[in-house]
Amino acid sequence: MERDQVVIVGGGLLGCAVALEIARRGCPVVVLERAIVGAEASSAAAGILAPRLEAHGREPLRSLGVESLAMYPEWVASLGADVGLLRTGLLRVVRAGDPVDAPDVEARWLDADAAREVEPGLAPDLLGAWSLPDESTLDPRRLVPAVHAAANAAGALFRVGEEVATVDASGVTLVSGERVDGRVIVCAGAWTSKVPGLGPLPVRPVRGQLVALSGEPIRHVIFGAGGYLVPRADGRVIAGATVEEVGFARGVTAGGVRAVLGSAVAMVPDLAFAAFEGAWSGFRPGTPDDLPVVGEVGGVWVASGHYRNGILLAPITAKWMAGAVIDGLRLPPVFAPGRFT
Ligand code: GLY
Repeated sequence: MERDQVVIVGGGLLGCAVALEIARRGCPVVVLERAIVGAEASSAAAGILAPRLEAHGREPLRSLGVESLAMYPEWVASLGADVGLLRTGLLRVVRAGDPVDAPDVEARWLDADAAREVEPGLAPDLLGAWSLPDESTLDPRRLVPAVHAAANAAGALFRVGEEVATVDASGVTLVSGERVDGRVIVCAGAWTSKVPGLGPLPVRPVRGQLVALSGEPIRHVIFGAGGYLVPRADGRVIAGATVEEVGFARGVTAGGVRAVLGSAVAMVPDLAFAAFEGAWSGFRPGTPDDLPVVGEVGGVWVASGHYRNGILLAPITAKWMAGAVIDGLRLPPVFAPGRFT
């Protein structure tokens, strides 16, 4: 057995990011991906980097997200690729009937005139908006190939089309019967609970439907009570997202697209004139407490369950997993897989 090898199950963004960090630290690493690298939640995501809104009031998740967001500029620079990282800031719009409390201690209130000054397309009926200037966005469909390529260049070996028969504390057995020895890290996203040998972990798929629009650009990430809008560097707007407990049922639905577009147009009415570029869905890896699963169970490491924050938390998760597996770094028990047993 190659004693120092790390075997990662799952080639999504987290698998690629963990592989990159481990490879950069000089440790042999192999990634086993059953289909296509980055094809699932990683490329379906809107790419919102907004811990102060998405993890509001949920410490230590908020602090973890803020730390991970702060890592992004340097991490992206180290990839040597343009991933559309934009520090746009975020507006949480408030309309009649919406909750008016501040979404975060750092949020600054803008009345309707001030909000429309910074984001002219906002609806006339809004009362105002909470502004979070550090929240950011990127294009996951550019990020995933960039992290994959960087991990490859750093020496990580990607094996695609590999079905896992079982994982254990000393390696992975493939359906082909081949044994791949090493310390195992499962980064299988919404499919984590299906990885044989890992034991029961309550990670479940939570479907999100998104729509891409073009021709009516916006400046900020915009959240409302019913959804969000995300600007892309190329001028498109990504509108999201449904939150659906439908198991692994793929696809977009008329009702899902109607809900997403209804929320989008209510926030920025001119989006009714935008070109419809397409719609898709992905599966967030949800957990019962909406917190990630990052730690070790039965000798196998897990980095999954990032729910709405997989893109945001990729840099810090990679750093933590490499630290834990290579240096014995102790990870916070609040994220440990054992909290569910
Ligand atoms: N982070 C946005 C979403 O999961 O829809």
